[in-house]
This record gives sequence, structure tokens and C-alpha cells, in this order.
Amino acid sequence: MNFVPIEIQEYAEKHSEPESELLYALRRETYLKTMYPRMLSGHLQGRLLSFISRLVAPSCILEIGTFTGYATLCLAEGLLPGGKIYTIDNDPEVVEIALGYFEKAQLQHCIEVLIGEALSLIPEIPVTFDLVFLDAQKEEYLTYYHLVLPKLRQGGVIIADNVLWSGNVLDTSTTDPATKGLQQFNTFIKEDSRVFALLLPVRDGLFFIQKK
Ligand SMILES: C[S@@+](CC[C@H](N)C(=O)[O-])C[C@H]1O[C@@H](n2cnc3c(N)ncnc32)[C@H](O)[C@@H]1O
Repeated sequence: MNFVPIEIQEYAEKHSEPESELLYALRRETYLKTMYPRMLSGHLQGRLLSFISRLVAPSCILEIGTFTGYATLCLAEGLLPGGKIYTIDNDPEVVEIALGYFEKAQLQHCIEVLIGEALSLIPEIPVTFDLVFLDAQKEEYLTYYHLVLPKLRQGGVIIADNVLWSGNVLDTSTTDPATKGLQQFNTFIKEDSRVFALLLPVRDGLFFIQKK
């Protein structure tokens, strides 16, 4: 879901840094070979992730939800020399595509792909994160947050994708588990005094959360 009109989206894309040839090829292959290609971050959101990553200048990034690796490559653009990005996914088939592109980008040395359940894997990563991208199971966002916040450095940033869920978060009588999970997550963040919270209606809703 995109909340801005398509003409505005295209104008914004045209006036932003272009997508690299590699990211374009990855996006194309994702649309040709996967069942839900719209899960991929895409040009404008990808440039935003890259921009934020360059501002944060992280040594250590965590991405929850690799898919075909588009956002992983965008986030990796801001890594400091010697830095590392951990990315988790429980679907080895889509990760296979990602691995090919990490190799083409010659970034295998700084990307560690963890295949399995995010909830079991997050506690096992023995590092402090500077930047985290939440983009896996929507029902679990709050649990991801509780696992990740203690591992985030002061001033570190969490970005959570799809927090408006096509506008469904406005439906207070919903019984859909993903929508309810996101509603609980959004309310919790808003009231959590440990963080600064900024929810932007970019694409399907991006929550920017900074640890005080
Ligand atoms: C929206 S896609 C990620 C898109 C990617 N971050 C991007 O922007 O290009 C979500 C991914 O999360 C993975 N996923 C869903 N539930 C998961 C879980 N419980 N543990 C680990 N990965 C999960 C899915 O397999 C899927 O590839």
C-alpha cells in the first residue's frame, strides 16, 4: 500500500538518487520469481533506508525479514568499515535469491544471513545494534521490539515497516491478528518513555524509533 498518489510517488522517485543497476535487477528478479514481490522495499523506501543508515553510520545492523535482500543491500550502504549486518529469514527459498545478490555486490563478508525463526535467533546474536529494521511477522512486532531494545545502543534507531497496514490499523473492531498486532505495537511505542517515536505515512507506514 502506498498513501501518496502514483504521480507524486513517481515525481519523488525521479528527484531522488536513482536505484543502482544491481538493485533494479534484484527487484526485477523478485517480481519474476517470487509469490509476493510487493514485500520488497522498492526504490524510494530503499533510498530512505540507505539515507538513514548513512546518517546513523552503524557498525552493527539487524534486519528481521530478509526476503530477497533488497533492504539488506540498502541498509548496508551506511555500514562503517568493518561493520556487519545480521539479517534473519525463515524462508530459505527467497534467501537463496538474496545470497546471489550479496555475492554480486561483493558484500558477503559484511552480511550474516541467519535462517530460522526470528524469535529464537534474535537472543542468540551476541552484539549491540546501532540500527534495526523490523520487517517480518506483523503479529510479532511487539515481541521483536522487547527482544531488540535491550540490545540497541543509546541513540540507536529502530525502523518498523508496514505499521499502517494499508490503513487497516484504523479499524478498532478488527479481528485480524496482523492488524491487532500492529495496533498494539503502535500504541506501545507511542507510550514508551524510553524512546522518541515518529510514525510517517511513507509507503505502508514507517515507524522511526530512537532509544533515548
Ligand atoms: C516483508 S518481507 C521482508 C522484505 C525485505 N525486508 C525488503 O524490504 O526487501 C518479510 C520476510 O519475513 C520473513 N518472515 C516472516 N515470518 C518470519 C519469522 N517468524 N521468522 C523469520 N522470518 C520471517 C518472510 O519469509 C519474508 O521473507
